[in-house]
Amino acid sequence: MALPHDGKLALVTGATRGLGRAIAERLRDDGARVIATGTKPDGVPPPGCEFMAVDFTDAEATEAFAEKIRARAPLILVNNAGIGIEKGIEELKTSEFREVHDINLVAPMILCRAVVPGMRRAKWGRILNVGSIYGIISREKRVPYSSTKFGIDGLTAALAPEVARDGILVNTLAPGFIYTDMVAAATDIDVPALEARIPIGRMAQPGEIAAFASWLVGPENTYMSGSNVVIDGGLVRV
Ligand SMILES: NC(=O)c1ccc[n+]([C@@H]2O[C@H](COP(=O)([O-])OP(=O)(O)OC[C@H]3O[C@@H](n4cnc5c(N)ncnc54)[C@H](OP(=O)(O)O)[C@@H]3O)[C@@H](O)[C@H]2O)c1
Repeated sequence: MALPHDGKLALVTGATRGLGRAIAERLRDDGARVIATGTKPDGVPPPGCEFMAVDFTDAEATEAFAEKIRARAPLILVNNAGIGIEKGIEELKTSEFREVHDINLVAPMILCRAVVPGMRRAKWGRILNVGSIYGIISREKRVPYSSTKFGIDGLTAALAPEVARDGILVNTLAPGFIYTDMVAAATDIDVPALEARIPIGRMAQPGEIAAFASWLVGPENTYMSGSNVVIDGGLVRV
């Protein structure tokens, strides 16, 4: 039986761990050929995925990586790599603010620019930008993170109409809280108290988000573009 992604080439950034790894695995299982990225040259991708190392804080390396990707012309791009820095405004360094933007927002733009020509040629493409519920609501100490996550949805909103007539659909996926290193590293998240607030009663497993991500970038999604889709166990509605 044909699998949904049918041998299409997909690029998933930040796919060594957490959500990106789960998305890469799911796309692979759903029939894509997957390029998975991480920062370290000896990074370990999911089995069966090709690995490319790139650090999005290195502007030159990011542009060189994008040129390699342009030549490969993937028809699926998942801009997933991301970091968070939790700091109040008085403590926040400009360099830290820039770092979060380089990884969470500038690199996704550069990669969109690199893949759109190949997608236009194929008259088919799917771009998924990983946002966050902190791109819809926010809280203290999230100035760097939230400004990138509101920003990436702006990228989606503006790019979607620019490319829609060429069969390219662009969306933002806004997860709530997922059991990954990012949540474990956030010092101001009290997991039991948080889970008590989430209507479903727990954080998400990466695979639960990845299943929906695979649908969004697949052939069954024929009409959703320019959307910011929340997947958060009901949290932002309470
Ligand atoms: N976890 C959550 O609850 C949650 C909620 C909403 C949205 N999100 C979003 O989901 C995405 C993935 O989050 P996660 O929790 O899975 O994160 P994670 O477990 O911390 O993994 C982050 C990934 O990004 C890569 N990365 C980090 N710094 C990078 C850099 N300088 N250049 C290129 N890649 C870099 C990492 O590569 P290395 O392994 O090489 O470091 C890793 O593959 C992010 O965009 C995040 O904002 C997460």
